[in-house]
Amino acid sequence: MYPEYKLSDSPTQKVGTKLFESQVSKGFLPHQHKVRLYSLDNTYSYEELSSWYDKLQKNYSLSSLPELVCELKIDGLAISLNYHNSKFAIGATRGDGFVGENITKNLETIKAIPDSFSEEISDIEVRGEIFMPKSAFQKLNDEQASKGAKLFANPRNAASGSLRQLDPEITRKRELSMFAYYGRIDSGEISIKSHSEMLSFLKKLGFNINPNFRICKNIDEAIEYCKYWDKRRNDLDYATDGVVIKINDFALQSEMGYTARAPRWATAFKFPPEEVSTILKDIEINVGRSGAVTPVAVLEPVYISGSTVQRATLHNFDEIKRLGINIGDRVLVKKAAEIIPKIICVTEHSDSKSSPFVPPLTCPSCGTKLVPVEGEVNLYCPNYLACPSQIKARLEYWVSKDCMDIDGLGDNIIAQLIEKGLAATPADLYKLTTDDFMKLDLIAEKSADNLFTEIQASKHPTLSKFINSLGIRHVGKETSDVLARKFKSLNALKNATLEQIRDIDGIGDKIALSILDFFSNSFNNELLNNLKQYGVEPQEIKENQNSEIFKGLTFVITGTLSKTRDYFENIIKEYGGKVSSSVSKKTSFVLAGENPGSKLDKAIALSVKVIDENEFNEMANIK
Ligand code: IVH
Repeated sequence: MYPEYKLSDSPTQKVGTKLFESQVSKGFLPHQHKVRLYSLDNTYSYEELSSWYDKLQKNYSLSSLPELVCELKIDGLAISLNYHNSKFAIGATRGDGFVGENITKNLETIKAIPDSFSEEISDIEVRGEIFMPKSAFQKLNDEQASKGAKLFANPRNAASGSLRQLDPEITRKRELSMFAYYGRIDSGEISIKSHSEMLSFLKKLGFNINPNFRICKNIDEAIEYCKYWDKRRNDLDYATDGVVIKINDFALQSEMGYTARAPRWATAFKFPPEEVSTILKDIEINVGRSGAVTPVAVLEPVYISGSTVQRATLHNFDEIKRLGINIGDRVLVKKAAEIIPKIICVTEHSDSKSSPFVPPLTCPSCGTKLVPVEGEVNLYCPNYLACPSQIKARLEYWVSKDCMDIDGLGDNIIAQLIEKGLAATPADLYKLTTDDFMKLDLIAEKSADNLFTEIQASKHPTLSKFINSLGIRHVGKETSDVLARKFKSLNALKNATLEQIRDIDGIGDKIALSILDFFSNSFNNELLNNLKQYGVEPQEIKENQNSEIFKGLTFVITGTLSKTRDYFENIIKEYGGKVSSSVSKKTSFVLAGENPGSKLDKAIALSVKVIDENEFNEMANIK
């Protein structure tokens, strides 16, 4: 009845287990999930949704239309709760789906999670989504504001921050709730035949079930459900970003099983990004870490897709002309999940005839004359070493999550460090003492000692994160990862020739030249030397590290992928796998891109696992 069990020793499961160390953070013990927590595939249109349903019917030769359950997709954090002998035993975050963090103590403080039930069940795992109601989020942020503490960007971040507190008493004070959407009973002691029966059973046990779920006879009813909630999602006191559509019957779910990433028996329909109208109050000028000067729209605050938006990117000064906007105009703003809000168009020009916006000639931060850069639309402030805005932006970038990931060193603290002359370059951070932090106006909960410890603890990042932290122009997270895997140490990257860098698939002249340029700059070399002197050194990648993850696996690549076939072949070979040109029973995975052709048909005929690029990246731990 529970298809997941069959997969417990599948290659992808093993691959994932090896990767867990990188996913689990300090403070909580890792928890290995008994059964993997899969992701969901997404659909973005009703056509896509219909074809998901049609394909299932066809692939499984179903004679009647399979019943569906539609549920709101809650925008919170997935957790797994394990009960033993009817008592709550262990609760954990999803993590990478294989290993999460044991946050039992914090989950015990949440009222929506029963600590025991009267029904006798030896073992049950319940999964669901922890969320913070919008009203509680508003209240929490009001309190944070009155304490001068950092505000949470949206209810999801607030829920996440509250759940991952080292002191459960803080979690208890935050108003968290949970909707349960999955149950798995190990023994045959209770027979439950469908998802809707499971939901009723979970409700009987005392879990919160989202009352807005609906059983649908066919995909048209499911589409109707999606349309209904797309219009009304803002009336709810919790954030939802779509609908999850699941095949109701467990026997059928079991037959359909899972791909390497997600169940075939379920899909998520993502609501289209909301577009909201507001007023453009001002246009501010931002100076980035590389000196790029860009306009930023300051908006009359509006609530869009889970958070209040007050600023939107305008990209460059040409964009202002293209949109024909001016201060005071009514504009339409759009925000896709996690993406910076964007102005789509003007809907009404302001009555007051304000003169058109004029791009600045000098840097608003340091007054230096701005310069254009050949081939780029942006203007630049050339005062790289001394411009306060650039210094601040570089430090903010250095400590951010995808870089050195230094917790607690917020914008406000960075601003004070610069103002007091305590830090101007990333290397300066590592010579700061607890006494230095005592000189600052520190916000609650973040003591000087904590900041000192966090900085010291960040000294040995992965090579990929370290490269990303350097802020080399045109080198982002993905390229940093490619460079780290290729060169394996900072020294090797520093000494690399133009040819060696250019030879890497996906890296062209522009990136290669920028890397050489970076390492030949004396300011950058001084920074690297200083960092080394303070003990900041990235971890080197050992020759055989990770090299085994594809051992024994044969891949066939077909269709159009986002990068060349060589790129994928190299990764597979680097990790010990083989690449073959034709599909056979011995093929472990077919990596399929767009228009895959006959190899895909053959894979399906031979029941060979087909994965897409995202699934592949997940297996190879490429983020
Ligand atoms: S079912 C195997 N139902 O969506 C199917 N997931 O993108 C497991 N989510 O990690 C998921 N609301 O955190 C399911 N009603 C719902 C959900 C839901 C939110 C989240 C869940 C999961 C993510 C997948």
